[in-house]
Amino acid sequence: MTGKLSGIEACVFDAYGTLFDFNTAAAGACDELGPDWQKLSDLWRLKQLQYTWLRGLAGHHAEFWQVTGDALDFALAQLGIVRPGLRERLMQLYLRLGAFPEVPAMLQQLKLRGIKLAILSNGSPAMLAAVVSNSGLDNVFDAVLSVEEVGVFKPHPSVYALAAQRLALAPERICFLSSNGWDAFSAKAFGFRVLWCNRFGQPAERIPDMPDGEITDLSALPDLV
Ligand code: LAC
Repeated sequence: MTGKLSGIEACVFDAYGTLFDFNTAAAGACDELGPDWQKLSDLWRLKQLQYTWLRGLAGHHAEFWQVTGDALDFALAQLGIVRPGLRERLMQLYLRLGAFPEVPAMLQQLKLRGIKLAILSNGSPAMLAAVVSNSGLDNVFDAVLSVEEVGVFKPHPSVYALAAQRLALAPERICFLSSNGWDAFSAKAFGFRVLWCNRFGQPAERIPDMPDGEITDLSALPDLV
């Protein structure tokens, strides 16, 4: 993308897949999972997201911790993986996901310029507190916002509204970043300025609304706001 987004006062980040690499959970247990670790990771993530959408549609909200565990149970069963203690190990690894390599320096650069920084995530407050702290990012964010405050998962508009409300900014003053296409498009439909961090080279979603721009990782962000 070329050209800067003007008038941005805050950057709001999705957590899983955008700041933190969910693949590092299954990769961290590759001694037990062997070459299947990536397959497990893909299926775990797919089912985790599906369960958020299904629960949202059915009006059966549960914390992301439970949804993440349910999705892991499905993925382990589908792949026929049965090992004592492995489920618990993987869930604990999910609290210690690695940040993508460019993340700490990029956040510092934006912070030094006085841009407000926040996370807006499906993650429950305890999950987000753990992953932020375990990546050494304590004291970096002005707000770490969980959907638990509104009781429904993304992409419900009330989730995006929470960030605007808590940062006390009009949506067009906020640049939202997500690697999840569906999240980036939905945040744009809400009214944020949006950069889609398309880490995985995915095609554009066919849902409203097209993000303002696309980047391949977050290192480009400081030059764009
Ligand atoms: C989140 C998921 C969608 O952090 O990645 O909200």
